[in-house]
Amino acid sequence: MKYRVTTDHPARKSTPCLILGVFEGPKLSGPAALVDEKTAGRLQKILDRGDFEGKAGDTLPLYDVPGAAADCILLTGLGKPEKFDLAAYRKAVAKAIGLLQNRRPKKALCTLSAIDIQGADTEQRFRDGVLAAEAAVYRFDPCKSEKKPPARPLKKIKFQLEKGGDPALAERGLRHGQGIAAGVRQAKDLSNLPGNLCTPAYLAEQSMALGGGSDQVSVQVLEEAEMETLGMGALLSVSKGSRQPAKLIVMHYQGGKPKAKPVVLVGKGLTFDAGGISLKPAAAMDEMKYDMCGGASVIGALRACAEMELPLNVIGVVPASENLPDGAANKPGDIVTAMSGQTIEILNTDAEGRLILCDALTYVERFKPAAVVDIATLTGACIIALGKHASGLLANDDALAEQLLAAGESTGDRAWRLPLWEDYQSQLDSNFADLANIGGKGAGAITAACFLSRFTKNLHWAHLDIAGSAWNSGKAKGATGRPVPLLCQFLINRCKLGE
Ligand code: BES
Ligand code: MN
Ligand code: ZN
Repeated sequence: MKYRVTTDHPARKSTPCLILGVFEGPKLSGPAALVDEKTAGRLQKILDRGDFEGKAGDTLPLYDVPGAAADCILLTGLGKPEKFDLAAYRKAVAKAIGLLQNRRPKKALCTLSAIDIQGADTEQRFRDGVLAAEAAVYRFDPCKSEKKPPARPLKKIKFQLEKGGDPALAERGLRHGQGIAAGVRQAKDLSNLPGNLCTPAYLAEQSMALGGGSDQVSVQVLEEAEMETLGMGALLSVSKGSRQPAKLIVMHYQGGKPKAKPVVLVGKGLTFDAGGISLKPAAAMDEMKYDMCGGASVIGALRACAEMELPLNVIGVVPASENLPDGAANKPGDIVTAMSGQTIEILNTDAEGRLILCDALTYVERFKPAAVVDIATLTGACIIALGKHASGLLANDDALAEQLLAAGESTGDRAWRLPLWEDYQSQLDSNFADLANIGGKGAGAITAACFLSRFTKNLHWAHLDIAGSAWNSGKAKGATGRPVPLLCQFLINRCKLGE
């Protein structure tokens, strides 16, 4: 899809489709009122008839409205004016674009970006317009024998600049939106692919392909023998129960000064989690193909960095493995030695994410990072605590936590902080090793983060538990691409900090 910023008058510019907003009331939005004037009050008359209420989610296509310069006008409900914020705007854009995807117009002029949107700056309007449109047209069909692409897909969307808006900021928003959308798409594509196709080797190949396609990205993949030499006993213990060899993917994005300290992103790349010997129940086990969503979000974020040409250095690390029951698999009670030298009693083989992450987190110390963020579908407990709307955030650095929360707030890809108090640490006590890999019944999302915190003492570190936010279950089952928007906005903001 192509995107443009436009300052054209919506009533005068001819376009195959003009998207106009109507508030609940119903009340015409500013741009819609301009078109109404030009069409001798035609739009208002339609509202007066009472069939279009302007509720969020409502749409009404109108063809050949006398006096209008557009072939088609798509009225789009915005909901209550006092509640029209970025979240409502995103929904309205997605609704309009989703409807157009299978209709005749190949181009559209969207005026929703020019409406008064609460708490939105110019950059956000354009960034989120693109993200909402791209989410609306996303399809995943590589595993269908018959592909059904939309017969008449949209090709180009112009978003209207709001009154007094700075066109340079709008352009920046469009550019960032497109970069972030590319990252979200990549994360969704990798995540939706099933475990038999998306193996650790596949994740490694896709990362290499990303490196091959960009001068600023270079990728190395460490094999099990190298992990052995590094002493990654925790990571390797998970992988030995699988026939697919583990991979440790290391991606460098060099957009900043050569010596500038990197931000490091570490993503859990568990391509299928059956639980190991502590086998999971069968119901919905297919969803454990999504246990690599953290890794996919890191690969997606690096793609986005490259597309946006962000002026900073970012390193993405993805420990990739399967967790399966097997004669060679970890057994409850087994004790392994992590790369840091700490010994771990594996009381539950299903708490494998932290085992692969702890070695990856020790590994990244060598990069002397400015900050480290790990992203993982780590605990079912996080879903119990926060549901699917917020990612769990835990951090040993308040400033870093604030930056991540703000980036999530700005993009609608929100996180909520949970405490990482010392009080919880004793839940990881083991009679036989330095620590256990589970912390008992209470506060599962927190004790999982406590476990990781034992390996990040030398780092400015934050952890995002995306078990709830990374995919949707049920009828609309599929990856959400979260938290790529949060991560990208965090990185964009870090560039501004360095300016
Ligand atoms: N990948 C799972 C966490 C998960 C569960 C994500 C459900 C999304 C939905 C993780 O490896 C796991 O199994 N965690 C265990 C930890 C427990 C054994 C302490 C869990 O949450 O049950
Ligand atoms: Mn597990
Ligand atoms: Zn897992």
